[in-house]
Parts: sequence; C-alpha cells; structure tokens
Amino acid sequence: MDVPAHPAMTDEQHPHGFTVSTDPARLDLDLIHRYLSRESYWAAGIPRDTFTRAIANSLCFGVYDAAGQQVGFARVVTDRATFAYLCDVFVLPASRGRGLSKWLMGCVVAHPDLQGLRRFVLVTRDAHALYAKFGFEPLADPTGYMHVHRRNPYQSPPAE
Ligand SMILES: CC(C)(COP(=O)(O)OP(=O)(O)OC[C@H]1O[C@@H](n2cnc3c(N)ncnc32)[C@H](O)[C@@H]1OP(=O)(O)O)[C@@H](O)C(=O)NCCC(=O)NCCS
Repeated sequence: MDVPAHPAMTDEQHPHGFTVSTDPARLDLDLIHRYLSRESYWAAGIPRDTFTRAIANSLCFGVYDAAGQQVGFARVVTDRATFAYLCDVFVLPASRGRGLSKWLMGCVVAHPDLQGLRRFVLVTRDAHALYAKFGFEPLADPTGYMHVHRRNPYQSPPAE
C-alpha cells in the first residue's frame, strides 16, 4: 500500500489575502509558543521542548496574512486513517471576527488525510458553536468515554 507523504500540504487562499498552510517550515514557532504558553487557558506554561515535540508529531495548520505573518493556528494529532484530535486552535486578537477560524476549520475538516476517520474529537470550554458548524457535537453518551486528565500539567511539575 502506498503511504501518503508526510505531511500532506495544503495552501488555500482566502479572499482577503490570508493563506492557510500545513507547511511546517512556515510555522512561527516563537509566536505559537508565546500564545499557547502565555495566552491560552488550556496550555498555560507549556515548556518549549514539550511544545516542540507536539508540533513535530502533529498535522499543523497555520493562518498567514498577506505579508506572510502568522495570525492563526490549529493542531491535529492523528494517525491519518482512523482517529484525530483537534487542539490549540487560535486566531490572534487583531484578526478575530473576520471568519478566519471558520475558514481554518473548513480547511481542517477538508484535509485529505482527515477523511473517513472513525473518530474526530476535540475539547472546548466555550467555542462549541464554532465547531458545531463543522459537524462536531457533544458526546451523546459519555458513559463509555474514559481519559486520564492532568489538570494544570505545566504549572506544578512532579517532584524529582
Ligand atoms: C475562537 C476563535 C478561534 C475564533 O476566531 P475568529 O476568527 O475570531 O472566529 P470567526 O470570525 O471565524 O467566527 C467564529 C464563529 O464561531 C462562533 N463562536 C462560537 N464560540 C465562539 C468563541 N468562544 N469565540 C469566538 N467565536 C465563537 C462565532 O459566533 C462565529 O460564528 P458566526 O459567524 O455564526 O457569528 C478566537 O476567538 C480565539 O482565538 N479565541 C481564543 C482562543 C480560543 O478560545 N480558541 C478555541 C479553543 S477550543
């Protein structure tokens, strides 16, 4: 069986000059890490080496403005066949409210490596209505769902 090249590349133009790309070389790692570690409620304090490993082993989507500056991001942890987990979605404050996250989500769910999955999951505090536009829905029956969840994993490192 032919295994698709890793990662699949997409470059999509947005009417206002924005671009979505899965090219890892375009990612502004300093900007993404700064946002996630300082601004996000879910990855506050994430160490740089943990972040770097996460990026290296994920399908990452960057959103870029007409000047090539990164203004948004989404990360998908996936086997590219049966399962995917969407996380780390953000658009920088100055670029919000223009439909960029909806366009980004459209690119994510249309990506060729994310078709026919058995399960595509995410966790959100308050953006349910965004993801609902793309087919995500609350667990109908959470009784079979189990997880190990470390709360604030980067705030209190385990004792040596
Ligand atoms: C959530 C976020 C990515 C939205 O980006 P955006 O480009 O401004 O959003 P868009 O302009 O594409 O519009 C988003 C749509 O989802 C809706 N929505 C639902 N929940 C939302 C939320 N928590 N924040 C923003 N929009 C939300 C909006 O109302 C809008 O729908 P509409 O066009 O029908 O009114 C952005 O506000 C952000 O980065 N927030 C901080 C990080 C975050 O919370 N990320 C999501 C973690 S699960």
